[in-house]
Amino acid sequence: MSELKGFDRMFRLDGKVAVITGGSRGLGLHTATAFLLAGARKVIITARKSGGEQGIDQAVDKLNALPGISGKAVGIAANVANTEDIQRLVEEIKKTEPKIDILVANAGATWGGPFEPTPDWSSQKVLDLNVRGVFNTVRLMAPMLAAAGKPDDPSRVIIVSSTAGVNVPHVGDHGTIMYSASKAAAHHMARNLAVELGPRNITTNTVAPGFFPSKLANGLIDILGGTKELENENPRKRLGIPEDIAGVMVYLASRASNYVNGVDIAVDGGVRLSSGRLTKL
Ligand SMILES: NC(=O)c1ccc[n+]([C@@H]2O[C@H](COP(=O)([O-])OP(=O)(O)OC[C@H]3O[C@@H](n4cnc5c(N)ncnc54)[C@H](OP(=O)(O)O)[C@@H]3O)[C@@H](O)[C@H]2O)c1
Repeated sequence: MSELKGFDRMFRLDGKVAVITGGSRGLGLHTATAFLLAGARKVIITARKSGGEQGIDQAVDKLNALPGISGKAVGIAANVANTEDIQRLVEEIKKTEPKIDILVANAGATWGGPFEPTPDWSSQKVLDLNVRGVFNTVRLMAPMLAAAGKPDDPSRVIIVSSTAGVNVPHVGDHGTIMYSASKAAAHHMARNLAVELGPRNITTNTVAPGFFPSKLANGLIDILGGTKELENENPRKRLGIPEDIAGVMVYLASRASNYVNGVDIAVDGGVRLSSGRLTKL
């Protein structure tokens, strides 16, 4: 027998403070839910909109109504494509928390369309959020992450990229070349950060989802023939569900992944390894 210290707490996040960008809906909200259910003390979600059906406030209300949680959700509106706004977000967080244990850089934007008419603003929008925004969010929160990290319990940066960062997902009329390039950049940024921040007791890893129904993905899912067709093409015969993201996020945020640094975990049922989609576009 081996002595596995604290195995019963291995996947728990008790006492942890997490910041999740893009936490008001979609994958960010699935992650916030999972962190609270795993015992996190505070989950700070950020997005641009506070009010309305998809704003931060309704998400915070839903999160705080989760049965059995001991922690709480807090919302702070910020545009993480804008460096001054990220700095303001950091100052806001510092008013109540001196340290951050887990940062999930999840907020992302996409744009699709034919190659030559690509408007330059679309490339700027995608790169400003998916690359510069992620870099600056990590950079400006690094001191608070380092304050929380310990040699035997490092703090965590989890970057949400996409399987589009490792394959060529869509070209032609619905091409997403800059999105794909931005996600490849996120993967490599995470590898660099793993080496840069590892000695400061911060690990950095990437989660690369395939299709999960969401505001960002639904338009493309429809264009590609709808849910049924995409399910059929997937080796697991389905699209992603909230629990798929929850499991990998809790793993990467918990003690179970203490020694994992600089990896990409694809959460796509294996569909990135199959081919054929491009010929249909
Ligand atoms: N769903 C998928 O199939 C899929 C697949 C691969 C990768 N991903 C990646 O997963 C991440 C989350 O996507 P999702 O599908 O969950 O999208 P979503 O449902 O559209 O949610 C996006 C979230 O990001 C926030 N956001 C957008 N721009 C922002 C900005 N400039 N500053 C701060 N927050 C911002 C949104 O709120 P506001 O609009 O109020 O700001 C919202 O909370 C993205 O990085 C995406 O590229 C998703």
